[in-house]
Amino acid sequence: MKILGIESSCDETACSVVEDGKTVLSNIVASQIDEHRLYGGVVPEIASRRHAENIGWVTREALEKANCTLDDIDAVAVTYAPGLIGALLVGVSYAKGLALGAKKPLVPVHHIAGHIAANYLSHADLKPPYLCLVVSGGHSHIVEVLDYTKYRLVGRTRDDAAGECFDKVARTLGYEYPGGKFIDAAAKQGDPKAFDLPHPKVQGSEYDFSFSGLKTAVINLVHNASQKGEKIVPENMAASFQRTISDILSQKLMLAAENLGYKTIAVAGGVSANSGVRDKITAECEKRGYKLFLPELKYCGDNGAMIACQGYFDFLAGKRADMSLNAVATLSLENL
Ligand code: KG4
Ligand code: ZN
Repeated sequence: MKILGIESSCDETACSVVEDGKTVLSNIVASQIDEHRLYGGVVPEIASRRHAENIGWVTREALEKANCTLDDIDAVAVTYAPGLIGALLVGVSYAKGLALGAKKPLVPVHHIAGHIAANYLSHADLKPPYLCLVVSGGHSHIVEVLDYTKYRLVGRTRDDAAGECFDKVARTLGYEYPGGKFIDAAAKQGDPKAFDLPHPKVQGSEYDFSFSGLKTAVINLVHNASQKGEKIVPENMAASFQRTISDILSQKLMLAAENLGYKTIAVAGGVSANSGVRDKITAECEKRGYKLFLPELKYCGDNGAMIACQGYFDFLAGKRADMSLNAVATLSLENL
């Protein structure tokens, strides 16, 4: 069964054809990042306009690369939530048009469910139930993946998302937006023990995250140094920050796994590309004999293949949308 997956929730216009939820026949991603970088973050109005310009050729190219026409497609899957409302609307409207015109079923996909599903593309042996850490630019969750389409949120961030924290620290150190990958590269040249950064305390749920205290600690250290005419070595701060956030993410994930009895663990979302996060969680899982699944780097960030993959499982579960489908800016994974 071939699913066409469309993604436009933030700043990537993406389309992919995936067969049976695992074989990626094409995966086209048009990134707008060079334009948003000028403003230090994603500008929603610009994002919507670029999606509208790109979605046609991105979809045509995805079909061409997959050696398909719309006739060969069994269903059209599209990200409808959560994300920037104007950006989501472009993908949703386009997918509705395709589905109506080609008389194909339309499958609404949750963006975070898509990130989780990216792991199925790389690992045929991964099957629910398992525990997944989702760390992206907009979300930080610990999720029980009960089935391919059923989730329970056990932990979430109280303030910034992990990716947001990477990007803000990167900006403080003078790297361009989005700075996560620059922190990753700089950390390789620095001393991870140079700075002792705080592990913010969170009242209430022991699996919830808080990153604003960590971010503020970095900002204060950098500003205090500059006021004294001193300069912090950015590589050392990047390495210390990356070590600290990797420790925080890993500690909460391991605690949840132990208490909830999970021995199969996955990580998903843009920050799952981070080498420090990957290494730390790999080491902790090895220590405990847990089986760990990490997405391939090309499927960590936003892409259409993860949406087509999740669309396949949603299709099998009977999820369908009609022409009344709308974009939704905020929607919990638990309310699907
Ligand atoms: O999942 P994603 O592509 O988009 C959202 O759904 O938000 O995640 C984007 C986030 C950005 O904050 C970006 O800086 C971060 O993922 N990111 C990384 C790395 N690559 C991307 N953060 C740390 N290390 C990386 N290598
Ligand atoms: Zn994403």
